[in-house]
Amino acid sequence: MLTKIIRLDPLNFSIKQLQEAIDLIRNDEIVAFPTETVYGLGGSAFSETAVRKIYEAKGRPSDNPMIVHISDLEMLSSIVNVIPENIRKLCERFWPGPLTILFEKSEKIPDIVTAGLNTVAVRMPSHPVALAFIKELGIPLAAPSANLSSRPSPTKAEHVFNDLQGKIPLIIDSGSCNVGVESTVIDVHKGHSVVLRPGGVNLEDLKCYLPKVEIFNNKNKELSDEFKPPTPGLKYRHYSPKAEIILIEGSIKFLEEKIVSLHFKYRTQKKRIGILHTHKNFQIPSDIINDPKCKMIYLGLRDSNIDSDDSINADKIAEGLFSSLREVDNQNIDLVIVEGISEKKIGLAVMNRLRKAASKIIKE
Ligand code: TXA
Ligand code: MG
Repeated sequence: MLTKIIRLDPLNFSIKQLQEAIDLIRNDEIVAFPTETVYGLGGSAFSETAVRKIYEAKGRPSDNPMIVHISDLEMLSSIVNVIPENIRKLCERFWPGPLTILFEKSEKIPDIVTAGLNTVAVRMPSHPVALAFIKELGIPLAAPSANLSSRPSPTKAEHVFNDLQGKIPLIIDSGSCNVGVESTVIDVHKGHSVVLRPGGVNLEDLKCYLPKVEIFNNKNKELSDEFKPPTPGLKYRHYSPKAEIILIEGSIKFLEEKIVSLHFKYRTQKKRIGILHTHKNFQIPSDIINDPKCKMIYLGLRDSNIDSDDSINADKIAEGLFSSLREVDNQNIDLVIVEGISEKKIGLAVMNRLRKAASKIIKE
């Protein structure tokens, strides 16, 4: 199959440019499209045929359910049984945007979309192309991230092309996704609100609306006894480049020391190293920077407005994270040393992805 790419300027496009994509979806086909978080691989949420094609193209395990994307609240009413009042408020505050909320699913959504669960995860993306696409279709789109299963999520059309060329008919290319990490997935029911996956909407912002919101954690015994959310996606390996990832977490001093000692250790073993450098207030020694066998990858440090008392720019780090993990593969690097960041705001989502991608975590 030939994979066609259509370029659409997110600030200046016409609905006519979406016609081919719309026709494909109406014919049970699948299309990769941009959202503000990452690119999605969409098919009609009402079509078992289309959803099966999505699982196949991604090589996604069939027990991992999909997010359904909508363009307005009327569309929500058509796919869920009830919209509780507290959840409606949450939708009004955070939609369109990177928050995915679990609802009791209506019979119109085939079981294959939710992998047999009686809840459906729904979000209204804020990307102008995604919103216009779904609105014009008039059909909700079931869409996981448009990467091969276990690979980093795609934040550019070329990432989608590299993973899925020949497997899907069309990619809508609208440039880079500006959030860079996937949506926050939240389950609000039985008086509990639990974040199943941290993402584009920060915990700090959610807390203004849901003061008791918790982060789902297998080790949280009290929570898991009373409330056992099905979180199929959590058990799979994720976000992995081919290189080994060593994540270091701790104070600036600890990061500095570890980079020096790990660089020495692995260079002695003749490995090709990468360093994912995220902090501006320490200098990597010049012999490391000038080592031709060590590739420096600067993340969130260039072209960014960092206020002087903050050592990192978490938004920029999130935006470039998956792209950097993919760059590692292009550079034929054996292992990457990654500087962990603070879990404040979007840093929580970044660290969640990095810990999943890491084969080794070294803590202070
Ligand atoms: O930002 C995003 O969320 C992107 C864009 C394309 O919207 N989508 C995305 O989809 O990241 P995906 O399929 O890669 O991740 C969806 C996550 C998975 O971890 C899945 O297990 C979980 O949401 N999920 C989906 N439906 C669920 C449900 N009914 N109950 C619990 N978890 C669910
Ligand atoms: Mg995904």
